[in-house]
Amino acid sequence: MNASSLQDVSALIEDAWRADGTRPLNDHLWLDLRDGGRAGFAGIIAREEGRSHIVGYCQVSRGNESWAIDLIVHPHYRYDSLEIAPEMMTTALEIVATEGGGHVHWWVFEPSRAHKQIAEAVGLQPGRRLLQMRRALPLEPEVLAEIADFYTEPFQPERDAQQWLDLNNAAFARHPEQGGWTMDTLRSRMQQDWFDASGFRVHRRQEMMASFCWTKMHHDNSTTMGEIYVIAVQPDLGGQGLGRKTAIAGLDAAFLKGAEQAMLYVDADNASAVAMYSSLGFSVHHEEHSFVGNIAAEKATS
Ligand SMILES: CC(C)(COP(=O)(O)OP(=O)(O)OC[C@H]1O[C@@H](n2cnc3c(N)ncnc32)[C@H](O)[C@@H]1OP(=O)(O)O)[C@@H](O)C(=O)NCCC(=O)NCCS
Repeated sequence: MNASSLQDVSALIEDAWRADGTRPLNDHLWLDLRDGGRAGFAGIIAREEGRSHIVGYCQVSRGNESWAIDLIVHPHYRYDSLEIAPEMMTTALEIVATEGGGHVHWWVFEPSRAHKQIAEAVGLQPGRRLLQMRRALPLEPEVLAEIADFYTEPFQPERDAQQWLDLNNAAFARHPEQGGWTMDTLRSRMQQDWFDASGFRVHRRQEMMASFCWTKMHHDNSTTMGEIYVIAVQPDLGGQGLGRKTAIAGLDAAFLKGAEQAMLYVDADNASAVAMYSSLGFSVHHEEHSFVGNIAAEKATS
């Protein structure tokens, strides 16, 4: 991806964003693109001669244990998606195969029949279901009263980084994206413009991190949104009300930073988290699904 293709892709993202009302490329993939990509990154561009804008973009990013694929077809070419998308996707899967193969997931915002057909055409099956849940802020006074005696403080990198990694990786041990973070992953998130330690609440017990709620502000919509970016409780302290209290502390911090809406993503099958958010007044705004597959390794032919 040279500077000019990066510019073309940014323009495509803008056009798709305007047409769909949602930004294509999830956070991890967007950072990969902007930072030039980690090892295992590839960007595939589809062009049509005589057109100033590109027709489509497909991105492959290697995660800790799997590959993420994202796909954007320009709004003007949506009628031809069933031709353009499988072709780009096939190229992406070939790259994965020559890079050693592995588990692949393609995330789709509110999947349509066309998405299912594209997935089927390249041999991907339905995978994870993610719910985006929202609620208005501020929290009700009686909910805020629950944390009257509960203390959280902002994340302090020197003191908390290693404890945070240990807690996060233990709590998300089986999670495909949130587990297995390294100090580098954490540092790269902390270097983002949006990072603000005051919205990253940490609850400590006997000098150790017991739970945290890391919030992220979004100013790109008409409503200022505070996202619960990551939340977790030390696994042996689960089920004692800590998750709920830490979430309340995080949501209140987001409100104090200007959020009018709270938002989060949760796996539809994470029953305890979905129950916790529902009991805090969140409801499902929309669903995002992944299509997955296991790609066999293949030797590069050129
Ligand atoms: C999700 C998580 C933060 C909840 O924290 P917790 O301290 O265990 O939860 P709490 O004790 O505060 O419970 C809050 C509510 O969650 C729900 N809940 C908690 N554990 C539950 C379980 N095992 N089954 C069903 N509901 C459950 C209940 O609604 C509960 O309310 P109640 O006490 O009135 O019944 C914690 O399980 C965790 O760290 N999980 C791993 C990381 C994760 O999945 N984070 C969320 C990603 S979106």
